[in-house]
Amino acid sequence: MTINKTDFGQNFIWGTAQASYQTEGAWNIDGKSPSSWDTFSQKKGKIERNENGNTATDFYHRYEEDLNFLKSMNFKHFRFSLSWPRILPNGTGEINPKGVQFYHKVIDKCLELGLTPWVTIYHWDHPQTLENKGGWTNRKMVDWFSEYTEFVSKEYGSKVKNWMILNEPLTFTIMGYMLGEMAPGKKGINNFRKAVHHANLCQAKGGRIVRKNVTNANIGTTQFTSYIEAHTTKDTKAAERMDALINRLFIEPSLGMGYPESKLFFLKSMKKVMLPGDIEKMKFDFDFIGLQYYFRTVIKKSAFMPYVWAKEVPPIKRGAIANQMNGEVYPEGFYQLMKRFSDYPSIKKVIITENGSCFTDILKDGKVTDNERIEYFKSHLNQVIRAKNEGMKVDGYFVWSLTDNFEWDKGFRPRFGLVYVDYKNNLNRHIKDSGIWFKNLLK
Ligand code: GAL
Repeated sequence: MTINKTDFGQNFIWGTAQASYQTEGAWNIDGKSPSSWDTFSQKKGKIERNENGNTATDFYHRYEEDLNFLKSMNFKHFRFSLSWPRILPNGTGEINPKGVQFYHKVIDKCLELGLTPWVTIYHWDHPQTLENKGGWTNRKMVDWFSEYTEFVSKEYGSKVKNWMILNEPLTFTIMGYMLGEMAPGKKGINNFRKAVHHANLCQAKGGRIVRKNVTNANIGTTQFTSYIEAHTTKDTKAAERMDALINRLFIEPSLGMGYPESKLFFLKSMKKVMLPGDIEKMKFDFDFIGLQYYFRTVIKKSAFMPYVWAKEVPPIKRGAIANQMNGEVYPEGFYQLMKRFSDYPSIKKVIITENGSCFTDILKDGKVTDNERIEYFKSHLNQVIRAKNEGMKVDGYFVWSLTDNFEWDKGFRPRFGLVYVDYKNNLNRHIKDSGIWFKNLLK
């Protein structure tokens, strides 16, 4: 299976993606206040091995080195996120000049190296001061988020043209406000309902603000997706319910379609938290949708899982190949989701803003032979070629991730990077074979 750069067309966007909390470290210096993730990960028992992102990969001090790696692998685009509490330590109000300056330095370094910066405004780390007031469960979040977005889009808008409003609202609302497994660790349907709705409002409002402030902006927002399939024919309805939850909850409101309540009955109760006019307010004409794909999910019905009445049949029980986080390696699902997103008439273009996988990497003599990851990329990029050949509007691909980093509640164990980070040895970086593979592909 040979893959050539030319198979993707001349203007195809090639980049890598990462997020502030997972990489920056420097959690309490230069005027930054704690984020919801600082608070959560510093509590005992929340993260595997009680790890936290206090230092992460120290991107805050090593961004030049990392950007040089990116450039050396022949990528041209760099996606990263802004840490809200670094810029606005109180969430709103007073600006922290050192924090603002840090992102100027990252952006300027990108531009100097000929890399195009792609900024995610929110990748899950909001100021703890705002979480203390309810965070995403408080409708005031729309005002707080608007103030933050106003500031960053004006501040960086002359240099940055590519913007993503939210990263995977599904993940942070379900994991953070329903299941309590990620920051801020809240649980229950009441929290979830509010968080979902307020995230939908911010997603669209953020888009309108960036549109107003940035000339020639290319504006998107990114969505978690998983290819959902029924375990047996008896499970079809359960799979549809799960699909509405996983794949439709944030994209359809943004397209003006409201919540997918016909497939997932409990969404009728979203009305409890909606105000007149909200359907319209959740809508925004995005220039692109960021599709993020990692694995397939096989579903069977379950009487014990309230609201969705469905549960996963894990890959291990089906004898399927899975990664370090038990995500099934399933390239066909990637194709199916590109097709599905391309089929929404009002989606103008799709950009793969994250795709990648974690395997057990071993550093030996400064090298990491990660053939499984190379195979993962080959099989998934083949699906991108297939989609493009069928005329789908897929315009770019960002690898998750440039370097290994802090994988949320799983800590540092899962490694997703093209560049290995030696956590035991001064955070030294080593390019993996998959990084060299990309370097050759993209030259
Ligand atoms: C995504 C998330 C990233 C990263 C990745 C790998 O859901 O946006 O931050 O953690 O998964 O699991």
